[in-house]
Amino acid sequence: MDRVMIFDTTLRDGEQSPGASLNVDEKIEIAHLLEQMGVDIIEAGFPISSPGDFRAVQRISKEIRNCVICGLTRANPKDIDVAAEALQGAARPRIHTGLGVSDIHIQYKLRTTREKALEQGVEAVRYARRFVEDVQYYTEDAGRADPEYLYRVLEAVIEAGATVVNIPDTTGYTTPHEWGALIRGITENVPNIHQATISVHCHNDLGMATANSLAGVANGARQVECTINGIGERAGNTSLEEVVMALHTRRDLFGVTTGINTRLLYPASRLVSHLTGIVVQPNKAIVGANAFAHSSGIHQDGVLKERTTYEIINPREVGVPDSEIILSARSGRHGLRHRLEELGYTLDEEEFVKVYQRFLGVADKKKTVDTRDLEAIVADEVQVFFEETYHLEHVQVSCGDHSIPTATVRIRGPDGQVYCDANHGSGPVDAVYRAINRVIGEPNELIEFSIQAVTEGIDAVGRVTIRIEADDPVSENGVERRVFSGRGADTDIVVASAKAYMFALNRLLAARREAANRD
Ligand code: KIV
Ligand code: ZN
Repeated sequence: MDRVMIFDTTLRDGEQSPGASLNVDEKIEIAHLLEQMGVDIIEAGFPISSPGDFRAVQRISKEIRNCVICGLTRANPKDIDVAAEALQGAARPRIHTGLGVSDIHIQYKLRTTREKALEQGVEAVRYARRFVEDVQYYTEDAGRADPEYLYRVLEAVIEAGATVVNIPDTTGYTTPHEWGALIRGITENVPNIHQATISVHCHNDLGMATANSLAGVANGARQVECTINGIGERAGNTSLEEVVMALHTRRDLFGVTTGINTRLLYPASRLVSHLTGIVVQPNKAIVGANAFAHSSGIHQDGVLKERTTYEIINPREVGVPDSEIILSARSGRHGLRHRLEELGYTLDEEEFVKVYQRFLGVADKKKTVDTRDLEAIVADEVQVFFEETYHLEHVQVSCGDHSIPTATVRIRGPDGQVYCDANHGSGPVDAVYRAINRVIGEPNELIEFSIQAVTEGIDAVGRVTIRIEADDPVSENGVERRVFSGRGADTDIVVASAKAYMFALNRLLAARREAANRD
């Protein structure tokens, strides 16, 4: 069977989702999981765009040895120089350069002509080939371009040394039928196309990114560009887990394979969601909370008689853990460690002790702790990749329909000193946030707040995800960052909200400190 290459751009196009920015350590954590999962190419960033992107590409190039590492550039020597420098340590570096090909882009964005744009693209490929052997060329907005011009560009850049040609539906405009025909047209009309791999890069503005990518594969594309959970600009990119599982489940139809270990799809989805603060919709294919839930009586009856009556994928195949295995305080340290290992978490002793303490607290309140509770605990206690400045030690609220919501907080500061303060607000969460503000004094606006029950039941752990916008942005080399996400989980949703706010504030303060240290 032919192999389709999986090109993951979670750390580049995915990170362009509003408010999703990740710090370098968070990117490294994701990159390790992508490598373990068998992703062929990791697009690690756009090195010239910010010092953070540069550092991420540099570190990922050094640490990830089993994937091609790719850096994005525009079609100019300066961008390419910087990308080449960031990629220097990579075992298999790839420069991804390119330019718009639609008349809309050529006229209004590039303000040039078709001929000049073609020449610039060819020059960029030649220049990039001075540094690396593997050069991928993107033809931005190919979905709205004149195919005849696109064919000419592709022929010219392959002639100049491009090894992969990326065909993006940048605006998510096309339909599967059209997209498939375009890819077929490329295979039939670009004379030297056999010297390069065709890649498809689809956006989801009309909800067709996965379908378009699959139509591309059916018509000759052998690389698909995608992101975990489909995150990305606007409505996002093609979702990696959907493409991989469609190709796998319907291999009878597509006749191709990928190198992906599908059992890591769910853990990757959770990790990316935790670190970006982008919540996965419950009905999301493959990794949503309801993707394998059967609620109607008829369906439940069918599945109990024979799973395949209503299930085309075994949840275990994509790494969804068995939620029926539950632990209690009596499971002890050994039982907890064993279950964490089964779930793929390798924790050092210090991390384990933190998780165990939290586990005991949750077990005390809920009596039983299932896999989803454990995930929330590990996310809170271990998957934190910045240094905490302020630590919330205690939060207490008083509220009700005839009282003024009032909160008291106790917070340990960076100097080890303990601060206590109180405030009132329009509701308990508002009161807590105002009380925290009195201690930390970092002016910001809460721009997003969401709460989800991690498990079923009245005693469920609640997971709060928030985004705050700092009044005073964090800037490094002229690049500004204002939005920071935070998360927190607890059986008490006011406590979970307080933790989420502390998380976002600590993340903001850590970014500010790092930027100041570099200046
Ligand atoms: O959507 C797009 O066209 C892109 C390119 C930069 C590859 O992301
Ligand atoms: Zn894109």
